[in-house]
This record gives sequence, structure tokens and C-alpha cells, in this order.
Amino acid sequence: MLKGKKILLGVTGGIAIYKVLDLISKLKKLEAQVDIIMTESATKMIAPITFQTMARSKVHTKLFESSDNYNVEHISLAQSCDIVLIAPATANIIAKIANGIADDLLSTTLLATKKPIILAHAMNSNMLDNPATKRNIDILLQRGHYFIETGTGFLACNHYGNGRMAEPNDIIDYLDCFLTKKDLDGKNIIITAGPTIERIDPVRYISNDSSGKMGYSIAKMARNRGANVILISGPTYLSQINGIETIHIETADELFEAIDDNFEDADCLIMAAAPADFKVKNRKDKKIKKTEIPELELVENKDILSYFGNIKGSKKIIGFAAETDNLKKNAKEKLHKKNLDYIIANDISKPGAGFNVDTNIASIISDSYTEDLPIMSKFDLADKILDLLKY
Ligand code: CTP
Repeated sequence: MLKGKKILLGVTGGIAIYKVLDLISKLKKLEAQVDIIMTESATKMIAPITFQTMARSKVHTKLFESSDNYNVEHISLAQSCDIVLIAPATANIIAKIANGIADDLLSTTLLATKKPIILAHAMNSNMLDNPATKRNIDILLQRGHYFIETGTGFLACNHYGNGRMAEPNDIIDYLDCFLTKKDLDGKNIIITAGPTIERIDPVRYISNDSSGKMGYSIAKMARNRGANVILISGPTYLSQINGIETIHIETADELFEAIDDNFEDADCLIMAAAPADFKVKNRKDKKIKKTEIPELELVENKDILSYFGNIKGSKKIIGFAAETDNLKKNAKEKLHKKNLDYIIANDISKPGAGFNVDTNIASIISDSYTEDLPIMSKFDLADKILDLLKY
């Protein structure tokens, strides 16, 4: 959602400045517009030309710089952006903002702006723990400014502790969430994602190709749109999403239990997980030796969606249908059989749809209508699915 957003980026002289080049590159790939102000100390660490080239826009450094137009530069920069991001934000710039000091272009612009100010701060842990810095951060929080949490790790001073600037991907995730309209505010949504695994013995299992990408995209988008999300995830390689309660499960039975524990308070269940349809009845507690080729006895797992569809009351239930043939007919049958409000049907045999890819080609089917969607990113499809919960 950062496409077309105008970000005024204030860069100050902290060693984490090297990460900001990667951040700008990522913001440009997402088609955000980035205007940059660098402090004098920042320009001593990395030359402005490097930032200018990455951002494909002029880097502003001086308060009394001659300008090509007649606008007062710090006022026009302060007014024309959607948000101001300061990265890295040193203890010094935090102190200046807290005390209303305006002695260079960045601090003057910050005093002049009414736009949200977000700080990705970075400093040595003693500086961060210093009562003066703590007080300044408190003042800024009370004034309604925002801080992106620092991480713990090795700092530039060869010290291990808290004070690392958030990683570029986490800053982008924060901005994305910040700039998304909160139209699902207050909704409690359970989202399931990924495969389940059904053990044969302690080292072997039956599973499927689900990557979890669709469910994780819905969970992230729902968080961005203000919903309270519980993500129930089978084993995946995907990173944990900030700000979301994630329950990790392995088997379809555990998936059922996790939904059941949270269903009462939910407004909606979106079932993007691919639970295994069968489990192993004669599962062994000890590793089976290769000389003992087992005969697997499979029994059917509970149809989780059918169970919750049939007790849903006023809650909305959305399922998925992964098909290789008779897509719409099979999907509609599942819609009715499982008593769903909507089913998202996708033909997993088509290139660009289904498991393990970043895109999907889906149809949204309800009792009364069908909407065929073109190929789109799973994140954009997530947005379309969540639109179904607005009414
Ligand atoms: N589902 C479920 N419990 C199961 C199997 C599937 O809740 N034991 C859910 C899936 O999460 C999905 C929907 O039901 O939202 C349809 O899953 P799909 O695998 O397409 O269909 P199945 O019901 O398993 O039927 P079939 O395998 O015969 O196509």
C-alpha cells in the first residue's frame, strides 16, 4: 500500500545509516516517493549523492540552500508529504525534537510539520537507557509521535544489547500498516494457514504442498486494516508477522482444537489452511526401521470447516477450494456442504495459482454471485477477500 505515498525521510548521523540505503531501494521498488533531508553528520558518513541516486530525487541538506522555486523549502517539505520517517534517529535528533530546537534543515522541518512523525531510532544501549533519552522519548510519545521498536544484537560499539535500528523490511511493514485505512477496526478474525502434518513415526509424516503464503497474506492485510487477528499456522518457512498472535499447530486435530478455543469470540473464520484429509491410525511411537516396511492404515480427519460452518450463527465463514478440475461446480458444492458464506476457488493446475507461488487466480463464490478475478498477488487477493467482511 506504499505505492504513490510521499515519504519525507530524515537521515541523521548514526552508524545504522548503511541500512537506510537498502530501505530506500525497497521503498522505490514499492513505488513510494521518497524525499530526503540529511543532517550534516549524516553527510559525513555517506555522501548525499548515494542517497540521491537511490531515491531518484534531490537530497536536501541545508537550511539556506538556494532553491529552484520560490517555496520556503522546510515549509514545503513539511507540508507536501504523507508521513515523516526519521531513520536512523539518533539520541541527538530525539532530544532536539523533544525540546523544540530548530538549528538545521531537518529539525526546522520537523518543527514545521503537522504530518505524523515516525522514528526508527538507533543508539548504544547506555544512551537508550539514559534518563535524558528516556524522558525525551516519553515526551515524543505523549505528543503522538511513533517509534519503531529497536532490536537487540551486536551494536557498532562492539557491545551486545538493545539499540539496533529496526531492519528495513520491518520498517516497511510498519509504514505499510500505519498508512492502511483501519476499516476492519474491532473485528476479531481467525485465519488459518499452511499444511498440517500427520505423523507416521517420530521422523516421518504425511503432508501437502501448502506454503501458507495465502493465509499469511490475509493475516497481514487484516492486521493492517485494524482487525484483531489470530493466525493459526501449520509448519511453514514464513516469518512470524509482527503484532499478530500466532498459534503454531502440526496436526489437523490440533488445528481443530485451536480454532475451537477461539471461535466463540470471533466475528469471522477464514480457512486458508490445507488440513490433511487423513491421519495415520497405526502411528508408531518409535522410529520404524527400514527393514520393517509398514502398511499404513489411514483414517479420515474431521472436516473442520463443515463443523464450524454448521455452528457459525452470525459469524462469517470463508473457505478455499483448491481444485484441478470442475472448479466452480466443486467449489459451489463445498460452499453448500460446509455452510460457508463465501468460497475462494482456485484452479491449482494453472501457472500462477495455488500452492507455493506469490500470485493466485481465484473466483469468489457465494450463494448469489460469482466474481472471477484476474491473476494478482496473494496480498492483493487478501485485500479483496477482506472486503467481504466490511458489510
Ligand atoms: N478443510 C477443512 N478440513 C478438512 C479438509 C479441508 O476444514 N479436513 C477446509 C480447507 O481449509 C478449505 C476447504 O475445507 O478451506 C476446502 O478444502 P479442499 O481441500 O479444497 O476440499 P476438501 O473438503 O478436502 O475436499 P476434497 O479433498 O474432496 O476436494
